[in-house]
Amino acid sequence: MISNAPYGVEPWCLTESHLDLNLIAQSESVFALSNGHIGLRGNLDEGDPHGLPGTYLNSLFEDRPLPYAEAGYGFPEMGQTVINVTNGKIIRLLVNDEPFDIRYGTVQSHTRTLDLRGGTLTRNVVWTSPAGHTVDIQSVRLVSLTQRAVAAISYRVKPVDETLRLVLMSELVANEEVPRQSADPRAAAILSKPLTGEEHYAVDGDNPRAVLVHGTESSKLRLAAGMSHAIHGPAKMSTSTESFDDMARLLVAAEVAPEEELSLIKYLGYGWSSQRTRPALIDQVVGAIAAAKLTGWDGLLAEQRQFLDEFWEGADVEVDGDVEIQQAVRFGLFHIIQAGARTENRPIPAKGLTGTGYDGHTFWDTETFVLPVLTYTWPEAAADALRWRYAVMDKAKSHAVELGLDGAAFPWRTIRGQECSGYWPAGTAAFHINADIANAVTKYLDATQDEKFEREIGLPLLVETARLWRSLGQHDSHGKFRIEGVTGPDEYSAVKDNNLYTNLMAQHNLAAAAELVEKLDKEARELDVTAEEAASWRDAANDMYIPYDHHLKVHPQHDGFTSYARWDFKATPEDHYPLLLHYPYFQLYRKQVVKQADVVLAMQLRPSSFTDEQKRRNFDYYEAITVRDSSLSPCTQAVIAAEVGHLDLAYDYLAEAALMDLQDREHNTKDGVHIASLAGAWTALVGGFGGMRAPSSGALAFSPKLPPGIICLSFRMRYRGRIVQVKIHDHGVDYLLLAGDPLEITHHGEPLTITGEPQTLEIPPAHPLPPPSQPFGRVPQSRHGRE
Ligand code: BGC
Repeated sequence: MISNAPYGVEPWCLTESHLDLNLIAQSESVFALSNGHIGLRGNLDEGDPHGLPGTYLNSLFEDRPLPYAEAGYGFPEMGQTVINVTNGKIIRLLVNDEPFDIRYGTVQSHTRTLDLRGGTLTRNVVWTSPAGHTVDIQSVRLVSLTQRAVAAISYRVKPVDETLRLVLMSELVANEEVPRQSADPRAAAILSKPLTGEEHYAVDGDNPRAVLVHGTESSKLRLAAGMSHAIHGPAKMSTSTESFDDMARLLVAAEVAPEEELSLIKYLGYGWSSQRTRPALIDQVVGAIAAAKLTGWDGLLAEQRQFLDEFWEGADVEVDGDVEIQQAVRFGLFHIIQAGARTENRPIPAKGLTGTGYDGHTFWDTETFVLPVLTYTWPEAAADALRWRYAVMDKAKSHAVELGLDGAAFPWRTIRGQECSGYWPAGTAAFHINADIANAVTKYLDATQDEKFEREIGLPLLVETARLWRSLGQHDSHGKFRIEGVTGPDEYSAVKDNNLYTNLMAQHNLAAAAELVEKLDKEARELDVTAEEAASWRDAANDMYIPYDHHLKVHPQHDGFTSYARWDFKATPEDHYPLLLHYPYFQLYRKQVVKQADVVLAMQLRPSSFTDEQKRRNFDYYEAITVRDSSLSPCTQAVIAAEVGHLDLAYDYLAEAALMDLQDREHNTKDGVHIASLAGAWTALVGGFGGMRAPSSGALAFSPKLPPGIICLSFRMRYRGRIVQVKIHDHGVDYLLLAGDPLEITHHGEPLTITGEPQTLEIPPAHPLPPPSQPFGRVPQSRHGRE
C-alpha cells in the first residue's frame, strides 16, 4: 500500500501536484476518462513515458486461442481480449528542436487535476529544455458524456521569456508498442500488433484532419479514428498533415514570442463495427467530428458540466468528518458514471475502460456491485447494461444447450457474450451469475417501474434464467430442491453442493420469474411459458434447500463446509496473499478459507432469509476465515458489519473499498481501476450506514446509524421518479424529498411518508458488540487514529 497517496485531498477534484514516474501507471488508470464507449487512459499528451498506453472502445476485442494442456468437452476454445486501439491523445511538442519529454531537461512544475464536476483532466506544466528554453503548457482533455463518439483536447503552449520555434505534432497512432505482459493471471494477454491498416487519408487547409481505418484479423471488426483541428497561433506559422497505415500527423510550426501562444483544439471521433463498410464507418467518424466542432470546445465543456450537474443532483454523497472518504466516494461515483453513461447495448467491464486488467472482461461484478449504484443514481445506465445481457442471450442459450441445460447460461467472463473462462471450476460453474442478472433486473424494476423494460427485457431475462435453475437443480427424496456442483462467489471453494448464496439467489430468480409471468401472461405465452412450467419454478423456489449447521448455529457456505479443516492462517506469511498466487487451488478448496464475502453477501442481498441473530453469528463466523483476496469483499463486509452493529469495523471496510485505487491497496491499479470496489464505497455508505434496502415487496427501507468519526453523512438517490435525500447526523436523521411525489418508506422498521418538508427522526441507540476477529495478519487498517 502507498501510505502517502500521491493525490491531494479535495472534495471535488483529484490533483497530482508532481509527476512521480514510479506511479505513472497507477495515475493513468486513476486519471482515465471514459463515457462507457470510448476510454482514454491518463497517458501524458506526448505519449512518452508511459506505464501502459491505452485507448479503448467498448467491446472492440480480438480473439485469442485458449490452449489447454488437457482439454475437456465444452471448454471454450477461444478467448477474447480488449485491444489498445488507435491513440488520438498524442500531441508532441518540439521546443527549438528538442522534444518535450519530462525525463529530460527540468520540470519546473507539473500538476494534473481530474475535475469530478467538470468531467475533464487538466495538466499544467512548466518545463525547461536541456538547452535552457522554458515553456508553459496546458492541456485539457475530455471524453464527451453527451456526444458518444467524441473526445477532445485543448492544448496550448507559451514561451516563458524568449521567442521560440515551436512545433506541435498532433497524431493518431495505431499498433503502439506496449510493455510486456505480466505473469499475474489477472492482467491481460496484450497483443502486440492487433490492427491491420485498411485505409488512411489526411487533408490540409483551414480544417486539417485525418482518418485511419483498421481491422482486426480474427474477430473481423473494423475501426475508424479521425481527428480534426482548430489552430490558433502567431502570424508566422505553417501547417501540414500526412497519413500512413498506422499513423496520421498534423504538423504545426511557428515562431512564438513570449507574449504569444500556440494552441489547438483537437476533436477526435471514434467508431467501430462488425458490419459497416469502410465508407460508412468513415462517414460516422467524420460526422461525429463535424457535430462536435459545431458544438465547439466551450460547448463541449458546458455540455459535460450540465450532464454531470444532473447526475450529481440525484447521486451526491456528502461525508462530513472524513475528507479522504468524501473525495473517494465522489471519485468512485465519477468512475461509475463514466463507465456506464453511454454503453448503449454494451457491457460494463470489471475495469471499465480504464485498463486491460482481466482482458477487458465483464463479470458478475456489473450486476451485483455496479448496477445497484446506477439503478439508484442514473437508472438509464443500469437499463442499458441489462439490455446488453438481453442482446447476447442467444449465446447464453447456446451455452446452456452445450451444457445440457435449459434456458440461458450467461458467461462468467466475456466481452461479446461467449464464455471466455478457461478455468471452468471458477468460471462456468459459477452459475450464480444468472441469478445475479435476475436480481439486477428485479431491483431495477422496483426502483423505476419501467414497464416497457419489464415486458421487453426483464421478462425474457427472468424466464430464461429461471429455466436454467429448474434444469440445474433437482428435488430430492424429501422434496427439497437442491443445486449441486456449483461455485459461489467465494473462489476459494469450487464445484460444491448447495452453495447457500446460489440457492438463495436462485430461489429469488425462480419466484420473481413465476410472479412476472403471471402478470404478463400474454408476453409469457410468446416465450412458450406454460402454467405448469411457472408452477414448477414456484415449487422449486418454495422447496429450495437452505443448508444450516444446527450444531454451530450458522449457515455453512455449502454442504459440509463447516466440517472442513481451517486454513492455517498463523503459518501463512503476509506476503503470501493473495493466496491464489501462492497455493494450489486443491488446498484452498478443501479448507475453511474464504476469498471474498459469500454467505455475508447472501445476507446483504437476501436480508429477509436470515434472523438478526443468524446475521450476527454468521458474520462473526465468516469474518474469522475471510481473507479479502478480492477487492469485491470489503464493501459487502462493511454493509453487514454496520447492520449487525460493528460500526468501527464497517468504517474500516468502507475505507478499504473506497481507497482501493487512490491508495493502490492491491498493487494492481495500474491495470485499471476496480469498478466494483469503487461502486462498493457507495454501497458501504448508503447500504451500510444508511441501512438502505429495497425489499422484494414493501417500502424502501432505511436503518441509519453512524460510526464514530463521521459527523454527518448525507446522500441523494433516485427512486421511482423521486430524488430522496437522507441526512444522518448525531441527533437523528433528516428525510427530505427533493423531487417527486411523497414516498412511503420505513425508518428502522417504522413506516414513514417523506415529503418536500424535512422530517427529523431519532436513531435507536446502538448496542455495541464484542468485535469479531479476522484471520491472522488480515485485520483491516483501522480508520481511527488515521492522522
Ligand atoms: C473475483 C471475482 C470477480 C473478478 C473480477 C476475482 O478476483 O474473485 O468475483 O468477478 O475478480 O473482478
